[in-house]
Amino acid sequence: MRILPLLALSSPATASVLWSNNNNNNFKVNGICPLAPKITPHDTLQSSLRFVENPSIRSQQAERLSKAVQIPTQVTDYMKDPYDEAFAPFLDFHSLLKRLFPITHDIANLTTVNRLGLVYTLHGSNQALKPILLTGHQDVVPINDASDWTHPPFKGHFDGEWLWGRGSSDCKNVVIGLLSVIEDLLAQDWTPERTVVLAFGFDEESHGFLGAGSIATYLESVYGKHSFEFVLDEGGMGLESLPGDDGVVYALPGVGEKGSIDLVFDLSVPGGHSSIPPPHTGIGILSEIIFALEKEELFAPKLGSGHPSRRKLECQVRHSPESVEPWLAHALSSTDQLSTAEQLARSRGDKFRFILQTSQAADIFNGGVKSNALPEHISALVNYRIALHQTPEDVTSRAVRIITPIVQKHNISLSAFPEDGKDEGKQNHLTISTLSGALSPAPVSPTETGKDKVWTRFAGVTRSVFESVPSLKGKTVVVGGDIMTGNTDTRFYWSLSRNIYRWSPSRAGGVLNIHTVDERVAIDVHLEAMALYYDLIRAFDSWDGEIDAVSDEVPHDL
Ligand SMILES: *[C@@H]1O[C@H](CO)[C@@H](O)[C@H](O)[C@H]1NC(C)=O
Ligand SMILES: *[C@@H]1O[C@H](CO)[C@@H](O)[C@H](O)[C@H]1NC(C)=O
Repeated sequence: MRILPLLALSSPATASVLWSNNNNNNFKVNGICPLAPKITPHDTLQSSLRFVENPSIRSQQAERLSKAVQIPTQVTDYMKDPYDEAFAPFLDFHSLLKRLFPITHDIANLTTVNRLGLVYTLHGSNQALKPILLTGHQDVVPINDASDWTHPPFKGHFDGEWLWGRGSSDCKNVVIGLLSVIEDLLAQDWTPERTVVLAFGFDEESHGFLGAGSIATYLESVYGKHSFEFVLDEGGMGLESLPGDDGVVYALPGVGEKGSIDLVFDLSVPGGHSSIPPPHTGIGILSEIIFALEKEELFAPKLGSGHPSRRKLECQVRHSPESVEPWLAHALSSTDQLSTAEQLARSRGDKFRFILQTSQAADIFNGGVKSNALPEHISALVNYRIALHQTPEDVTSRAVRIITPIVQKHNISLSAFPEDGKDEGKQNHLTISTLSGALSPAPVSPTETGKDKVWTRFAGVTRSVFESVPSLKGKTVVVGGDIMTGNTDTRFYWSLSRNIYRWSPSRAGGVLNIHTVDERVAIDVHLEAMALYYDLIRAFDSWDGEIDAVSDEVPHDL
C-alpha cells in the first residue's frame, strides 16, 4: 500500500489527458477519487459496533423510536406561531425526550429557542477546537388518510425488522439516534474536548423559519459566523451500489442543495355572462402563459467543473468501471458541460437530470366559479428548483421575457414582483409574485478527499464505520457527495460552516416511503447511523486539524 502525501495527488488536468481513452475498462488514474483514509478513534470508549451487534441496544432503540413516532408532531403550512395550540404535541415530545435521555438532560445545557426549538450543548474543555453541530427536526409531515396505512401512522409499530410510522425515517430516527449516542457517551463518563451542539428545529417540513431560522440566529450570536467545524443534518442520498457492482458502495452525503422559488400568477379580467364571451377568457390567457413557460427557453442541464455530481461520476468511473456507461470517462473529459450533462441525463433518467437542470412544475391553477359566468380572478403557481449554475433571477427574468408579449397581445398590463404586494382590484392586469421569497442554490461544501481536511476526516470515519457494519462487510465504501433536489433546515445554517453535510445514512431500501403512506425504517439502518454519529463525535473530539494522509489503493481491483 502506497501512502501519497497530499501534494502528490494528480490534478484534474492530468486526469483529462489520461481520460482521452475511450474505454473505461482501461481506466486507471492515480489520484482521482482516492479512497478516504480509514479513521478509527483512539480513546478508551466502547466500540460503535455494539449498536449494531447488541440485541438489547436494538430493542431499546426500537422502543425509543416507537415512542417518538407515537407523538404526532405534525406541521402544516399554516402554522406560523409557535404558541399556536396545534404545536401542543411538541411539548409532549420534549417531555418524552427528558424521560428517554435522563443523563443528557442532567448534564447537557438545554436552551429552547423560539419556544420549541431545542439546542443541547456539551461544552468542550478545549476552546481552541471549533464545535460541531448535529441537527435534525422534530416535526413530521401530516398524514392524509390513516386508513391507507398498513399500521396506524402514529402507533410506532415494530415488526422485528421495520419500525413503521410517520417520522420513523424523516427524521425522528435522526433526533433519537443523536440523543441516544450522547446518552451512551455520557453514561461512559465521557467529557468532550470539542464542543458538541445538537439542534432540533420544529417546522422543517414547512420551510423552517420558526425553528431552524431562529436557531441559526441564536447559534450565530453565541458562536459567530463560520464557527462550526462541520454541520451534519438529515437528508442526502444514502448508500448505494451501481447495478452489477455490489462490491463497491457509494456513500452520498448531500453537499449542496438546489435553490427554489414559487412564481404566483394573479390575473384579473372583467366578468360577464358566459353567453357573450371574449375570444379568450382569463382561463385561456393564463393557460397560454403556462403553456409558453413549458414550451419556450427551456432550462438545460449543466455539469459544471465544480459540480459535486462530477466528483461522484469520477468516483464511479474509477471504482466501478464495468458498471458505468462505456463513454463516461471520455464525456467527463469534455469541456462542453452542456452536452455532457444532456448525454448523462438521457442515459440516467429524470432523477439524475434534475440534479443538473432547473425544474419547472405548474402545481396550482384556480379560476372560475360558475358554468354561466366568466372567470374574473384566475391564479396559478409554478414551482422551480434551481440548478447550481442558475439563480432565482434567471428564473424570474425568463418568466417576464416569455410572458410580456402574451399579455401585450391580450392588452393586459403586467406588474412583476411589485414591492408592495399584489395590485388588488386592477382589471386586465397580471401580477407575478413569489410565495415566500427566493432561495438561491446552497454553497457547495468541499468534497475533495485528501485536500479538504474536514471532509477527508468525515469521509474517513464514514468509510471505516460502513466497511465494518455486518450488512456491508467485505465491501469497499467510496464516500462521495451529491446535491439534493429538495431543501433541509441547513438553508439557515450556511453562515455557520462551509462544511455542511446533509445525511441520514441509509443503505438503499433501508428507509421507505418518506412523506407518504407506510413510512418506515429498518432498525438496522437506524443503528448503523448511530454507529456513524458515535464515531464522528469521537474522531473529531480531540482532532488537531491535521489532514489525514490518503492512500491511493483500490483494494477491490486486487
Ligand atoms: C453548562 O453551562 C455552564 C454555564 O455556562 C457551564 O459552566 C457548564 O460547563 C455547561 N455544561 C455543559 C455540559 O456544557
Ligand atoms: C387596451 O386597454 C386600454 C386600457 O385598459 C384601453 O384603453 C384600450 O382601448 C385597450 N385597447 C384595445 C385594442 O383593446
